[in-house]
Amino acid sequence: MRKPVRKFRPDVDIADDSDSCLDGTDLDAYLDDADSDHSMVTRARRRRDSGETAPQRRGRLTQDERTRLSLLREDDLRQAGRPTVGDRWSTWERAEHGPTPCPDWVVTDLVAEDTELGVLKTGKEAEVHLLSREVPGTDRSVLLAAKRYRSNDHRQFHRDAQYLEGRRMRRSRENRAIAGRTAFGRNLIAEQWAVAEFAALGRLWSAGLPVPYPVQRDGTEILLEFFGTSEGEAAPRLVDTRLAGDELASVWHHLLAALVALAAEGFTHGDLSAYNVLLHRGEPVLIDLPQLIDLAANPQGISMLRRDVRNITDWFTGRGLPPETADPDAVTSMLLTEAGLSSS
Ligand SMILES: Nc1ncnc2c1ncn2[C@@H]1O[C@H](COP(=O)(O)OP(=O)(O)OP(=O)(O)O)[C@@H](O)[C@H]1O
Ligand SMILES: [Mg+2]
Repeated sequence: MRKPVRKFRPDVDIADDSDSCLDGTDLDAYLDDADSDHSMVTRARRRRDSGETAPQRRGRLTQDERTRLSLLREDDLRQAGRPTVGDRWSTWERAEHGPTPCPDWVVTDLVAEDTELGVLKTGKEAEVHLLSREVPGTDRSVLLAAKRYRSNDHRQFHRDAQYLEGRRMRRSRENRAIAGRTAFGRNLIAEQWAVAEFAALGRLWSAGLPVPYPVQRDGTEILLEFFGTSEGEAAPRLVDTRLAGDELASVWHHLLAALVALAAEGFTHGDLSAYNVLLHRGEPVLIDLPQLIDLAANPQGISMLRRDVRNITDWFTGRGLPPETADPDAVTSMLLTEAGLSSS
């Protein structure tokens, strides 16, 4: 005989609910079985994880039972929403993007996942992590440097005072928070640095300077083109190299060309040293640019340029480059001319 259709209680027959993880066994027995030490949800999760068949019931569900079932369903949905190989979903969609056209190695797929591969460097002001962004099941993957500006108590940002002066925000609540260094204020400062570095890199990359392509900014984190090996070993900083002879001279000439191009755009690095230049395939790459100095607009612009030039020429001549090849006064005046400024 055919089973009567229970039209008056459309919601009670959970055996017909094919996506329920309670299909196929007796829910009454299941609910009765719960002891006070283990919640129903925990028990159900354990059963599901162990592959045990879950209970089924035909009959009216109490409110309590419904709540428990919806928790189990939520858990299933959360499980399904988790990245399969990475630590998080790609944050590309919600982030600010770098200059266009974006290089074709940038992974923009919304289903991409990010995996943390370790810390490249912990600094006083930021931490730089190695990150892989990949589309699972495909060969679309890229290594990125994730620079995360710190906003905690222990952060000492020697560039804060100089930089924030003259950049007061329009909202007085934010100014007060920054002045008082509240948690909110510290986060705002960190984010301003991320915004500043992201904008500087975008501008310089578009002008053809040897800087990392800024892939995206999300809050206090910027994701950058990673310079290093495909195994994730970062390119060395100049200070970590043992350059000498022709190789040293070649790197100096490339670096000088980059400084000339920077001056032609109207800028100096602002914190140039052998620590903030990477050596990648025999050529220098400028990094760490949140404080990029506008030579014409900044009252300290010219003295910052002198300092940048002095720092870097000292390093090269200290390594054996002839002083006349890297004479700081000659280089400074050449860069000022390039920027359309005179040193007087
Ligand atoms: N794009 C990149 N590719 C490879 N390595 C990078 C990249 N960006 C940064 N790094 C590594 O991270 C280090 C720190 O980066 P950066 O100088 O930008 O940060 P920082 O916090 O200002 O550091 P510091 O306080 O030492 O100046 C670099 O010296 C370099 O080793
Ligand atoms: Mg640095």
